[in-house]
Amino acid sequence: MAVTEREMTRAQEGDFLQLKGIDYVEFYVGNARQAAHYYRTAYGFTPLAYAGLETGVRDRCSFVLEQRTIRLVLTSALSPDSPIAEHVKLHGDGVKDIALLVDDARAAFEATVSRGARPVMEPTVLEGKKGQIVKATIATYGDTVHSFIQRGDYTGAFAPQYNRIQNPAPAPEVGFASIDHIVGNVELGKMDEWVDFYNTALGFRQLQQFTDDDISTEYSALMSKVVQNGTGRIKFPINEPAEGRRKSQIDEYLEFYRGPGAQHLALTTSDIIKTVRQLKANGVEFLRTPGAYYEDLGERIGHIDEDMTVIRDLNILVDRDDEGYLLQIFTKPLQDRPTVFIEVIQRKGARGFGNGNFKALFQAIEREQELRGNL
Ligand code: FE2
Repeated sequence: MAVTEREMTRAQEGDFLQLKGIDYVEFYVGNARQAAHYYRTAYGFTPLAYAGLETGVRDRCSFVLEQRTIRLVLTSALSPDSPIAEHVKLHGDGVKDIALLVDDARAAFEATVSRGARPVMEPTVLEGKKGQIVKATIATYGDTVHSFIQRGDYTGAFAPQYNRIQNPAPAPEVGFASIDHIVGNVELGKMDEWVDFYNTALGFRQLQQFTDDDISTEYSALMSKVVQNGTGRIKFPINEPAEGRRKSQIDEYLEFYRGPGAQHLALTTSDIIKTVRQLKANGVEFLRTPGAYYEDLGERIGHIDEDMTVIRDLNILVDRDDEGYLLQIFTKPLQDRPTVFIEVIQRKGARGFGNGNFKALFQAIEREQELRGNL
């Protein structure tokens, strides 16, 4: 997709928030201590900081974990009347906050609220021995929020009231480097509203994708649009369910999450084969790809650098667009409910999201159904 200079300028003009990236993704979970163990041993995140009773925090317990540029915060309640406990009761473990790094949290809060965002927390100064952080929060889909985080010259491990974890237990070398995109699932008919919200209130722009919408809808039972910020660094695809050949996976999510929420975090790697092998060795389970998917993969995708036999053995999916190709694979849900999961993605030029795989996967499933006489 060619971006003209004029489009670029327009994008920069509209980019009043000047977001610097995703600061962290906070999950509300039933047991942060055990979740931290899981994200370390299964997904290779290193424990960085802790907040809880020992650090003067009375109502919650949080573990911060990191891997290259990715930071996860896992938070659980210490009392039954906590809003964190309420959140977990309603949604199960899930993403609460997709926090965005800014230079000026007050300005970001005012700019977005004046453009229609619902305020959740007014700009608040968090003061500690290592400096201060300013945090302000607005609402997005469902009970999910975006906090604006202004770090200034803060030098602590994560934030005031968090202690650095000394000599953290070792994490396996998985190879995740960054967050590629975070997908939100919203109710039928709400996708365009949320696309408008990101465009209007946050200065995002819709990413034009040249796919055959009818085909992807028919096969995937979902509609998806992608919004990104001015730099293109932050990408939020928004899904809504669509009438398809089968019950929509988005409907299933909405039913079990009890409303809209973050569906998956796509994490980049520069060597998907190595990453997937290590994740499997750590016990991570992935969605199975029907063998029939690989029968015509070479024809569909053309030449790729990777060994096709290995790609097939590991169940990795491949998609191509005019700029290159991408390799991707999806984990099973991260918790008991069939809600949030992780996508592992390696981009080799392609800037899409693997839409071609919807059709290829569904056709592969149907070929297998046909073999069983069930189509
Ligand atoms: Fe994705």
